[in-house]
Amino acid sequence: MSTKQRYCLRVLVGIISATAALPAAFALDITLPAETAAYKPSELPGYRLVQQNCMTCHSAQYVQYQPSTSPRSYWEATVKKMKHPFGAPFSDEDIPAMVDYLVKTYGAEQTTAATPAPAMVAAAPPPKTAAPATPTTAASLQPEALLKANNCTACHAVEQKVVGPAFKEVAAKYAGKADALQQVAANIRAGGAGKWGTVPMPPYPGLTPAELDTLAKWVLSR
Ligand code: HEC
Ligand code: HEC
Repeated sequence: MSTKQRYCLRVLVGIISATAALPAAFALDITLPAETAAYKPSELPGYRLVQQNCMTCHSAQYVQYQPSTSPRSYWEATVKKMKHPFGAPFSDEDIPAMVDYLVKTYGAEQTTAATPAPAMVAAAPPPKTAAPATPTTAASLQPEALLKANNCTACHAVEQKVVGPAFKEVAAKYAGKADALQQVAANIRAGGAGKWGTVPMPPYPGLTPAELDTLAKWVLSR
């Protein structure tokens, strides 16, 4: 078995355990070796844009493990989600070309026989369902719904460290501090590294003050 195949298998196992409600295994398997994966070279203008805009937070691995049948609308929703709520700083003008490159290189509009998805990946269940748009309505002010809609639970759990710190530890660290709520809300918005380790959290500039407040209150009451 080649290293690559073994990696595919590990990711698959991760995906399967994730569906069995073990996000920790999934997040850890995905995170460790992710830095090595690059985007497939292409003549399409979106290739250069994706290299520029999509490598700051994670490698191309996330893209490679999307189902190869994913249509244009799915890639568009995914790219838009990277911008809002995940906070990727690219301009809206870059979106169509990136979507075009992604759907033609990894999705349903692949034309050449040179880029079939590896069988193992094709057989995999979609790692995540196509992102539903996550409008921030009053209904989404439920803390649990906000955590889910913004993928916080991919990196955090209440009881144990995943990629980010356990919410219980965050609550313990801030217990008794007067401005805890403001600080934690500001830190969720800003993301970044250095408070708990060297791994950065993505910024969430798209969350409203009310949503940040709801999330920070919830975390601090764990
Ligand atoms: C600001 C940081 C950031 C940038 C820049 C970024 N992403 Fe992401 N991306 C994330 C986060 C956070 C996740 C969710 C991680 C998780 O669920 O484990 C994610 C997940 C994904 C996934 C997995 C599917 C999903 O919906 O969760 C794909 C595919 C993806 N990104 C593609 C891209 C592409 C393409 C670009 C460039 C247009 C990009 N990302 C740029 C932060 C970013
Ligand atoms: C891609 C992984 C990832 C995602 C997604 C993520 N976080 Fe984090 N989070 C981290 C990491 C890593 C840290 C530690 C950062 C540091 O060391 O400064 C962190 C730190 C935190 C902290 C502690 C801040 C402090 O003041 O010490 C809170 C609270 C938090 N995250 C909440 C959230 C919430 C709420 C969301 C969703 C809106 C979220 N995180 C999404 C990885 C993530």
